[in-house]
Amino acid sequence: MAAGRQRWSTQIVAGSDLTPGVLLLRYRRHSGGEEQMAPTLGATKATAGATSAAVKRRRRLERGHMPRPQSTAFEMSNKNKELMNDIFTNCKLKNGFGPTVQASAAATSPTKRPLSPDHPNPALPITETPSPAMNRMGWALRILLVADNSSCLKDRKVSGKLIRKCAPGTELVDWLVNLSPIVHTRAQAAGMWQALVEEGVLAHVNKEQPFKDKCFLYRFRLDEEGGTAAAGVPQAEDLGAANEHIREGLSALFQRGPDATLRMILRKPSHERTSEELELVFEELVHIAALSHLSTSIKRELSSIFVFEAHAQAGTILFNQGDEGRSWYILLKGSVDVVIHGKGTVATLKTGDDFGKLALINDAPRAATIVLKENNCHLLRVDKEHFNRILRDVEANTLRLQEHGKDVLVLERVAKQRGQHSAFKYTVMSGTPAKMLEHLLETRLGQSVGGMDPFLDDFLLTHIVFMPVVQLVDELANYFHCDAHEDAQTPEDREYIINFKKRVIQFMQKWVMAVRHAAFEEPSVCDFIEDLAAEVEADPDLNEETSIVHNVLTQMARYQEDRNQNAGQKWKLPPNGQPICLFSGNATPSKTVIRPDDDIIFRVYCADHTYCTLRFPMHTTAELIKACAADKLQLNRGPEDLVLVEVKSNGERSVFKDNDVSIPTGLSLNGRLFVSVKDHLDALTQLQEQEGPTEGVDIDLEILSTKELAYHITLFEWDLFWAVHEYELLYHTFGRHHFGKITANLDVFLRRFNEVQYWIVTELVSTPSLSKRVGLVRKFIKLAAYCKEYQNLNAFFAVVMGLSNMAVSRLQQTWEKIPSKFRKIFQEFEALIDPSRNHRAYRVFVGKLQPPLIPFMPLLLKDMTFAHEGNKTSLDGLVNFEKMHMMAQTMRTIRFCRSRSLGLEPPSPKSEGEVRSYISSFRVIDNQRVLTAMSQKVEPTRKL
Ligand code: CMP
Repeated sequence: MAAGRQRWSTQIVAGSDLTPGVLLLRYRRHSGGEEQMAPTLGATKATAGATSAAVKRRRRLERGHMPRPQSTAFEMSNKNKELMNDIFTNCKLKNGFGPTVQASAAATSPTKRPLSPDHPNPALPITETPSPAMNRMGWALRILLVADNSSCLKDRKVSGKLIRKCAPGTELVDWLVNLSPIVHTRAQAAGMWQALVEEGVLAHVNKEQPFKDKCFLYRFRLDEEGGTAAAGVPQAEDLGAANEHIREGLSALFQRGPDATLRMILRKPSHERTSEELELVFEELVHIAALSHLSTSIKRELSSIFVFEAHAQAGTILFNQGDEGRSWYILLKGSVDVVIHGKGTVATLKTGDDFGKLALINDAPRAATIVLKENNCHLLRVDKEHFNRILRDVEANTLRLQEHGKDVLVLERVAKQRGQHSAFKYTVMSGTPAKMLEHLLETRLGQSVGGMDPFLDDFLLTHIVFMPVVQLVDELANYFHCDAHEDAQTPEDREYIINFKKRVIQFMQKWVMAVRHAAFEEPSVCDFIEDLAAEVEADPDLNEETSIVHNVLTQMARYQEDRNQNAGQKWKLPPNGQPICLFSGNATPSKTVIRPDDDIIFRVYCADHTYCTLRFPMHTTAELIKACAADKLQLNRGPEDLVLVEVKSNGERSVFKDNDVSIPTGLSLNGRLFVSVKDHLDALTQLQEQEGPTEGVDIDLEILSTKELAYHITLFEWDLFWAVHEYELLYHTFGRHHFGKITANLDVFLRRFNEVQYWIVTELVSTPSLSKRVGLVRKFIKLAAYCKEYQNLNAFFAVVMGLSNMAVSRLQQTWEKIPSKFRKIFQEFEALIDPSRNHRAYRVFVGKLQPPLIPFMPLLLKDMTFAHEGNKTSLDGLVNFEKMHMMAQTMRTIRFCRSRSLGLEPPSPKSEGEVRSYISSFRVIDNQRVLTAMSQKVEPTRKL
C-alpha cells in the first residue's frame, strides 16, 4: 500500500503473498485502535494462558487435527449478552432485509451507490476474480471452519428470507482468532477476512458490508456458487490439504489484513470513518513520498478525504486528455501510461508517482490521457473540491512533466493576479517549444473568456526567439489537421478534435491581436490563415468560428491593402535628423511605419571622403551594401577585404557585421557610413559636416511658445513611438542579424532621443549672449515641465539630460541667473531622472500614469538587455521561459503606453507651421568634445 517505501503493515516480517514464511510478530503502534475497532465480546485474547493455548492449537494444526469447537452461538450468547443484543436487535436492520430500514440509512445505503470507482464500495471486491492464492486460502479456511464448527456456516433465516450457508462476522472472527497463534486480536482477524472480501472469496450476503466483526452475515464464494466443494462435511484428504495450506499460507493472509483494513477505510465515505480509522490512515500517509512536503495537519485532513480506487483491467482509461480535471491521484500500485493525442505514450508513471494536479490548479482541461498499464492498479484519489480546499494553496512549487524520460515542461506555482478566481496556479518556467505550444493549446485556450492568458501573451510576444514563425505555423497546421490520419472516429474523438480545431482558431485570433501586422508580414502566416478560413467554412461543426476567421481575414485584407498602397515607400537619410519619407501612400504620412522592403537612399563614403549614393531596401544586408558601394567607388577589392563601418562625429568607428540589416537608420546622429579596406580602418576620418551645423539656427527660439513646442514634439514623437513594433525590442536585444529583421522604427525613435538631448546642448552652447542663454535655460526647464505634463517621458528625459550635460551644467554664469524657483523645479526633474536604484524614482512616477504616454525608451531597452544578459535563453535544453516572461513584460509596457490614442488639447496656435517644421529636424552637434569647447568659448572657466 505504501507508495514509495513502506507497507501498511509493519507487524510481520514474513514471506510475501500467500507463501510460507517465518512469522516474526511485531505489534503495530496503534494496536489500541484495533482494540477499539473490535466488538465487546472478550475480543482480545487474554494474554495469560494464551501462549499455551496457542501452542496447543498450533500443534493440532500441524498434526492436521481439527480443533474442537470452542463455543456455540448460544454458549457465546451467555458469555456475552451485548453481542447477542446486537445480533437480535440490529442484525435485521443492518443486513438490509428488515422492513425497518430507515430512510436516511437508505439514502446512504451502499447499494444505492454506483459501483464505479468514483464511489468505491468497500463491500465489493477490488479484483475481477480472486487470485489463485486467495481462492485456495478461502477454500482451506472454509474446509477447516466447517470441520471445526459445522454449525457456524449454516442456512439462516433473516426476516423470513432464507440465506444459505452463511456465518456472522463475529463467529468467523472467533474462529480465526482461535485457529492460529499468530492472530492476536479480533481486529487482525477481521482484517484477514476483509482481505478475502477484497478478492471476492468471501462476501457479505447482501454485498452491502465490508467485513465487520459484527453480526453481519457473510458467505464464501464457494457457497454462493454451490457445487461439490460447497456440499457436506469435508473429506479427510481435503482436511489434510486444507491444514497444510493454512499452515503455509496463513501468515501471508495475516500480513494482508492491515492493508485490506486500510483499503476498506479508504473506500468508505469520509463521514463513516471513525477517529481510530482516520488515525490509521494518517499513519500510513506519512510514508507516501508524494505527500512528504505537506504538513501534519494537512495530512490529517487528507486522511478523511482520500479515496482508494482499484482498477482491475490494464487498458482502462482513467481520464481523457481534454476532460475537465476532477481529481488528483497518487499511484499506490501498478503503473499508468501518459498518452497524448498525436504523440502516443509519452511517459509511464510508477508506484509513488502522482498526477493530475495540473488541470486542478490551473482550472484547465487534462493535458494527457491516463491509461492503466497493468491489471489491478491501486490509486489514492483526492477530489477537486477537497483539493481546492486543502491542497491547492500548499501544493508543491515545481511540477516537472517528462516525455520519454526527459523534462519537457517545468511549471512553478505562482500567485495569481487579481481578478482571477483562485489564489494560485502553475506557470511555465521552461519547456521545449513544441510542448509549450501543446500546453497552450491543450490547457490555456478554449475556456476563459476574459483577457489574454499571460502565458499565451508571453508566448506570442517572444516565440520568435525560440520558435520561428514558419515552425509555429507548421505545428499549428499539424494540430488543426490532427484528424487527417484517423479514419474511424468515435463521437468523443470527433468532439475532441473539433474542440482542438477551435483552439487553433482561437490561438490564431489571439496571435493577430497580440502582434498585429507582424503576423501578416509573414507569407507563411497569410497562407495558413487562408487555408484555415477555407476549412472552417467547409466544416459545419466550426460554424461558430467563421466569424472569428472572417474577422482575422478582414484585418489581413486591410493590412494588405495598406501595404499595396504604400508599396514602393521611399526614404532618404538626410545629413541631420530623421530619415525623411519621400513617398508614401499613407494619408497621414507622419504615421508611416518603415517596412523592410521600403527603399532608403543614403550615402556611403570612402577614406578620401568621396561618396556614392545608394538606394536599397531597408532589409539589405551590410554585405550587399558594402559590395555595391565598393563597386561604385571602384575600390577594386574583394568583399572579404572590405568592411562597412560607421564613423561617428567624434571619429569613433564601429564596424557592421556582414549580416546586419537596416544599416542607414542605425547610424548615430551625425554618423556617416564608410566602406573601407579592413586593414585601413585607421585611415578613416570624419567629414567636416559631421561637426554639426555651421550656420546658426534660422529661427528665434525665444519667440516660439514653449507649450506649443512641447505639444508638437509630443505629437511628432508619438508617431515615431507608434511605429515601433514590440518585436523590434527583441531584434535589438538579441541582435537583428539573428532574425534578419529590421529595427528601423526603433532606431529612428532612439535617434530622436539623442537628437532632442543634443539639440538642447547645441542651442545653449551656441548662444553667445548670457541673457539669451538664461532665457533659453528657463525655456527648456519649462519645456521639460510641459513634456512631463503631456506624459512624453522620452522627451522629458532628453531635455533634462541635455540640461544636465557637462557642457551646460558648467555654464556657471548662466545658472546663477536662473531664478531659484526654476532651479528648484530643475532639481526635482533631475531627481526624477536619477538612475540610482535602477531608476526607482522614474519607475514609481511612471507606474502611476495612465496611457497614453511615451516612455523613456532607453530604460526599456536596458531592461531588455538586463533580462537577456542576466539569464540564459536555454536551460538544460529547455527554453528558459522565465526570461521570455521578463522580456514580454517590457514589451507589454509599450503596448500599455499606446493602449489609448493620444488626444492632447492643442495649445492656442501661434506659429504652428513654423514650430512643426522646426521640431521635426533639429540641427545638432553630437560631438561632446566640440560641445564642451563651445561651452568654454561662451563662458570661459573663471580663473581663481
Ligand atoms: P493533468 O493535466 O491534470 O492531467 C494529465 C496529467 O498527466 C497531467 O496533469 C500531469 O500530471 C501528467 N503528466 C505527466 N507527464 C505529462 C506530460 N509529458 N504531458 C502532460 N501531462 C503529463
